Amino acid sequence: MGGNRHGAHEKTHVRRSRSRYSFPMANIPLNGLRIGTASAGLQIEGSPQPSNWTEWAAAGTIADGTTPDPTTDHWRRWREDNELMERLEYPIARVGVEWSRVEPRPGEFDEEALARYAEEYRDLTARGIEPLVTLHHFGQPLWLERRGGWTNPEIVPLFLRYVNRVLDALGDIVTDWVTINEPNVFATEAYLFGSTPPGTGGYRAVRACLQNMAAAHLQAYELLHARLDNPTVTFAHHKRVFAPANRANPVHRALTPLVEYLFQGVVEKAFYRGVFDRVLGRPRSLPADFTPKGVYADAIAINYYSRTAVKGFDDATFPGRPTNDLGWEIYPRGIAEVSAPLAREYGLPIWITENGTADNSESFRCGFILDHLAELARLNAEPGGVRVERYYHWCFVDNWEWSEGMAQHFGVVGLDENLDRHVKPAGYMLRDLNRAGAITPEIVETYREAPAGGVDP
Ligand code: BGC
Repeated sequence: MGGNRHGAHEKTHVRRSRSRYSFPMANIPLNGLRIGTASAGLQIEGSPQPSNWTEWAAAGTIADGTTPDPTTDHWRRWREDNELMERLEYPIARVGVEWSRVEPRPGEFDEEALARYAEEYRDLTARGIEPLVTLHHFGQPLWLERRGGWTNPEIVPLFLRYVNRVLDALGDIVTDWVTINEPNVFATEAYLFGSTPPGTGGYRAVRACLQNMAAAHLQAYELLHARLDNPTVTFAHHKRVFAPANRANPVHRALTPLVEYLFQGVVEKAFYRGVFDRVLGRPRSLPADFTPKGVYADAIAINYYSRTAVKGFDDATFPGRPTNDLGWEIYPRGIAEVSAPLAREYGLPIWITENGTADNSESFRCGFILDHLAELARLNAEPGGVRVERYYHWCFVDNWEWSEGMAQHFGVVGLDENLDRHVKPAGYMLRDLNRAGAITPEIVETYREAPAGGVDP
């Protein structure tokens, strides 16, 4: 399966690019597209409870030797982060509840932690920021990991029990939910590519994980709808563009749809429709009387970063194309290419739940954002076309990037050694884009090559 996202990057291919805004200098209306940022519990909170990631990081697997403590220390500094988001006038925020914090021991739920999340999200809404809450974003309690994590079908009822407890605490505050973040990335990185915990397992484990995650998503979707009044529920699907490395090579051409199907197609039928083909197989963790009823998503939530040049089952990039600090190709057109067909197929709006780039020099982040947003604006301008309602930039504050640790910067807000926050040009640019409701020539002029730390108009 293609899509080696964390860990093994081809550093030799890295070619920094100042991705400039490459559209005409005209007003490009966003047509109601709202912009905010995304984050995940383990990557920002610090003060963690034992999880798959605390154990993995303690074993010395992280590029810069860091652990999920303190990351950005958001668990203590959450109010400051909420204030900053309000100051930047972001109308939406993707945030995450961390299972290992909520249920540190089997069946023992930490009511204080749940109350803290409730306080944080109530505070967000009071500031006019709508939270979209992720229930599983790569982290889970260590006791569960020891029982086989997502390869063990017993995790499914335990996940639903956890969701029920989260709903007891947050159900009257939050209406928008992501059940599971990037099942395909989680399964392949954890069990096939070995770059995230537990780092071993093989294809059978990938399959079991995806089956159980699908069973968990489908039932959590039903549960959230049964308990809440008209929520928006979805899962965050990681999509890349796959293209033959060499179009003249028949092996590359033949492999491309196969890799694409194995990495993302197989997930789509199962998660959106509850339909399991022979490749994935029906999960044992799905009740025998489960029959799919319609579509199990209320928005097409897409995490989009890059394009893969297919020549085998591992990642490769097209030579000579612009790349970010991690060697991922910058391919803005892909954001529309991967999301529009799904939105058309299911008649649902698109929410970009992640899009961002590793840019430690802060020289191309603004251009990257503008180019991707312009592609989305173009979709919104098509008559009778798909609707792109939300764009959550990954991420708010530079955070703990899993295997990369704190070394790679994706944020629109930076950190100094004391973990004090400073807004980067991109942070102000998102504010100005929301204000204008359009990509304007002024915004492009001001930001596309903004020097690091230089702009606060
Ligand atoms: C994940 C994020 C991660 C980002 C950048 C996505 O796959 O959902 O947690 O930090 O990529 O690496």
